[in-house]
Amino acid sequence: MNNYLIECNDLVFIYPDNTVALNKVSFRVSEGECIGIVGPTGSGKSTLLLIISGLLFPTKGRVKYKGKDISKYDALRREVAILFQNPFNQFLTSNVFDEIAYIPRQLGIKEDEIIKIVKYYSHKLGLDHLLNKSPFRISGGEARRLGIAMVLSYNPDVILLDEPFSDLSPKYIKIVKDILKDLKENGKTILLSSHSLHHMLDIVDKLLILNKGKVLAFADIETIIRNDDLIKMADLEIPCYIKILQELGMRDIRPLPRTLKDFVEVFIHHYGK
Ligand SMILES: Nc1ncnc2c1ncn2[C@@H]1O[C@H](COP(=O)(O)OP(=O)(O)OP(=O)(O)O)[C@@H](O)[C@H]1O
Ligand SMILES: [Mg+2]
Repeated sequence: MNNYLIECNDLVFIYPDNTVALNKVSFRVSEGECIGIVGPTGSGKSTLLLIISGLLFPTKGRVKYKGKDISKYDALRREVAILFQNPFNQFLTSNVFDEIAYIPRQLGIKEDEIIKIVKYYSHKLGLDHLLNKSPFRISGGEARRLGIAMVLSYNPDVILLDEPFSDLSPKYIKIVKDILKDLKENGKTILLSSHSLHHMLDIVDKLLILNKGKVLAFADIETIIRNDDLIKMADLEIPCYIKILQELGMRDIRPLPRTLKDFVEVFIHHYGK
């Protein structure tokens, strides 16, 4: 008996028009891990997250959650939440308040508690002024923040986020990153897709690189950052402070700085102020 929370075994997914989106994808995630899913556009990231959420069924292969086939895990909807790449696709109600309240209401949480939940997340994600507005008449960045508020509203154990940073201004990228760091500290398991290594570097433990529906690599982030070929194949850009270290001949430094602040410390340590 192993302790993996999520096990993807030889997942194949073929869309009705015969597009092979995933081709024998296997990897495992332990509870509390934060995994970044990267790869060129069209490589299968969204398809994979939808399968792990239980919303799409693999054509072949299977996903196990807590050792059980996910399609047979009754509490999946309660425990695993997903932010769609296009958050407008997940909205169901006629105003932003009801949207954040939707799943807590389904779970039978009392209305006075729900008001507190909505207030808390709408304030955190800058949605207070939109609570009476239709979720279908808000901006792309507001919709992303609303999607994130919906995911957080019922305190799920596993959080799947498809491109959580896109359309966000730097202020909200920082707010969402801080939320993710808090969730991680609280033991949540997080899988997020992004094209930005820069935004993920100080959050994720491992990277899963997909290319044309196949797993190109699944390894800790340091191993991947040091491999120029993988970075190129994943269509990723290394943060400039890591490029500077490489240019200075310090590419083997361990651990690699994950933030600009870490980089400054490494730099001062080697070169002085
Ligand atoms: N509904 C669909 N019907 C047919 N093919 C689809 C459908 N959705 C996605 N695909 C195809 O499946 C493959 C994987 O798509 P997916 O959306 O999972 O990629 P992605 O890595 O999330 O891309 P992006 O970075 O652009 O979001 C692509 O070839 C895409 O064209
Ligand atoms: Mg996608």
